[in-house]
Amino acid sequence: TEPLRIALAGLGTVGAGVIRLIDANGELIARRAGRPIEVVAVSARDRAKDRGVDITRFDWVDDTAELARHPRADVVVELVGGSDGPALALARASLAGGKSFVTANKAMIAHHGLELANAAETAGLALKFEAAVAGGVPVIKGLREGAAANEIARVYGILNGTCNFILSKMEAEGRDFADILAEAQRLGYAEADPSFDIDGVDAAHKLSILASLAFGTQPAFEQVAIAGVRHILAADIAEAAALGYRVRLLGLSEANGHGLFQRVHPHLVPLSHPLAHVTGSTNAVVAEGNFVGRLLFQGAGAGDGPTASAVVADLIDIARGEFGPPYAMPAAALAQPGAADTGER
Ligand code: NDP
Ligand code: HSE
Repeated sequence: TEPLRIALAGLGTVGAGVIRLIDANGELIARRAGRPIEVVAVSARDRAKDRGVDITRFDWVDDTAELARHPRADVVVELVGGSDGPALALARASLAGGKSFVTANKAMIAHHGLELANAAETAGLALKFEAAVAGGVPVIKGLREGAAANEIARVYGILNGTCNFILSKMEAEGRDFADILAEAQRLGYAEADPSFDIDGVDAAHKLSILASLAFGTQPAFEQVAIAGVRHILAADIAEAAALGYRVRLLGLSEANGHGLFQRVHPHLVPLSHPLAHVTGSTNAVVAEGNFVGRLLFQGAGAGDGPTASAVVADLIDIARGEFGPPYAMPAAALAQPGAADTGER
């Protein structure tokens, strides 16, 4: 059988993780996908950098955008990051040039997901972004496929591993914010610009993607009200604990009759709620459906292994020919979300 051939842009935490995962589990993946999945070409900024994986066996492409035209690749995988720039140029060129596209880039999908979904559907190609929300946790599949028959009342949860790692370490060890952020960066959890994490923007990107899937609405990142964790002190966390609460950065979205309510901010979560017990870089998403009831998706929300796992799951779907519209319905059928009254003046 012909392998599914991959051109891979970005060889950082997640890109190198994808190569390691395919190297380690290649035979198992081929059995499950019905054919091997094989990286044929790679691109990043620095060809000479030691990445802990052998990249000399792949074609090296200097200009990332050229991966879209690689003669042997069937699918382009983008693990560069950034809502615009080389990632978006590559997405557009890949879909326009007949190659399916897989990404972990929530910033790009939050801003341009609708355009890219339209391009993919028009061309009969796959656009897949499981890794963009909650790292290794299959929450996109969960909402897009598992809960597809349900009216969803609300979706909410812990969507940023870096913030949860920081808050739960501050709580357990009384340590300083800055120290713990540096540790999250060393572990590969943080964004290239960590202010996206700590100011709540990354969680908002993810929330806007989840909201589209849950409510069948066009992505509306600009409507998310955002506050981050930068100003939270160890003393705030101790005071919350004394009252029986933990501080967690939550994203929450619900359709409230007028429009879509979307909000990311630190919450006081009572100890009786499961989200109070989610620690470290773990993410957890709750979705409430009218027939399925309350679903809880939980697991590693960041890091090389979990994120690579979600990227390769998308590739397995493509290898099997199992893909439909990127959202839970065709992009042209997604409703205008309308802005809900948040009660704020
Ligand atoms: P890294 O910063 O570790 O890696 C980025 C890679 O992109 C590097 O290999 C870098 O090249 C390459 N790159 C950067 N800019 C350019 C450019 N202008 N042209 C070509 N290549 C470029 O990022 P991550 O692996 O952590 O993240 C990748 C994507 O995955 C992002 O969209 C991120 O939001 C997303 N993501 C990350 C998760 C994580 O836990 N880290 C989890 C879920 C999603 P070089 O190495 O040569 O500098
Ligand atoms: N920086 C992100 C986080 C990576 O900490 O959750 C996973 O999307």
